[in-house]
Amino acid sequence: MKKQKILITGGAGYLGSILTTKLVYLGYDVTVIDILEFNKISLSHLFVKNNFKFINGDVRDKKLMTKELRKNDIIIPLAALVGAPLCAKYPKKTLEINYKCVKFILSKLKTSQKIIYPNTNSGYGIGDKNKFCDEKSPLKPISLYGRTKVEAEKIILRHRNSIVFRLATVFGYSYRMRTDLLVNFLVNMAIRNKKITIFEPHFRRNYIHVIDVANAFIFALENFSKMKGNIYNVGLSNANLTKLQLAKRITKNIKGIKINLLKNKKDPDKRDYFVSNKKIEKLGFRPSISLDDGIIELKNLFNTFNFRDNKNNY
Ligand SMILES: NC(=O)c1ccc[n+]([C@@H]2O[C@H](COP(=O)([O-])OP(=O)(O)OC[C@H]3O[C@@H](n4cnc5c(N)ncnc54)[C@H](O)[C@@H]3O)[C@@H](O)[C@H]2O)c1
Repeated sequence: MKKQKILITGGAGYLGSILTTKLVYLGYDVTVIDILEFNKISLSHLFVKNNFKFINGDVRDKKLMTKELRKNDIIIPLAALVGAPLCAKYPKKTLEINYKCVKFILSKLKTSQKIIYPNTNSGYGIGDKNKFCDEKSPLKPISLYGRTKVEAEKIILRHRNSIVFRLATVFGYSYRMRTDLLVNFLVNMAIRNKKITIFEPHFRRNYIHVIDVANAFIFALENFSKMKGNIYNVGLSNANLTKLQLAKRITKNIKGIKINLLKNKKDPDKRDYFVSNKKIEKLGFRPSISLDDGIIELKNLFNTFNFRDNKNNY
């Protein structure tokens, strides 16, 4: 059978470097376009593989994108400015990369080409107190990041061969490491400071390991016709936890860590929701890495390496 050709934009990033590695080893023909804004060597281990091609390029380069889009069967657009603080700092660039580039990609796609898009479940904004958000819950993004992702999701779904994921907050080690994501951030803080400081401890979130995010993409590739035209939440169903519950899980796994609650500090990120992941689970997808295993992985990682404080900044 002919190998499928996949174009991944932003493939050198936190999610992308894990996903690209898995897809290359599964035998797909993978092309990555990335400007290498962060880690410059996150895909260097793949240069030995002849089914991998790296292009150091910008998704805003329409000529490059038109040429590469034509050559591929499947598009996974990951390139974005990611997270509310970064997007608030660079609003024009955010709109260009997170929304306009996705719109351009769709304008060039043939109906037969497939696209799998990662939205954030932060679009759920502030969920009802006693209800889990599912894929039918209204989207009320509260940041520019969330808004551009939700608008991009809408246009993605107009393409017949599309699948949208709404991802929980991702954790775990990646070749391009991010220490700004909540679980990674708090475990790093626990190791560095021997205490975890949190505010607005009641805010609820859902979590998923980065390897399971890559596995969800692979599941979508393998079950495309069954899944297309749909949105799926992707998270650990047994990890719908408040920030305080998360801090307690970390102290359960790392001894001697105190939790320090700041009463008066407000979180600029007002996200507060629990999420149901039943829709993708009903199709047979099961995450493989628990929150506890992820915390232990991160404990070992941060005990061994001192990652520069990485606020996802330019
Ligand atoms: N990490 C999460 O928790 C999470 C959750 C939900 C959705 N997502 C989505 O997944 C995608 C990847 O997120 P991530 O956590 O890997 O972020 P990341 O910042 O690690 O990766 C983004 C990548 O895009 C590249 N990039 C940025 N601008 C570019 C441009 N103009 N041209 C080419 N490349 C460019 C960067 O160099 C980087 O390698 C994003 O679309 C994000 O919205 C992430």
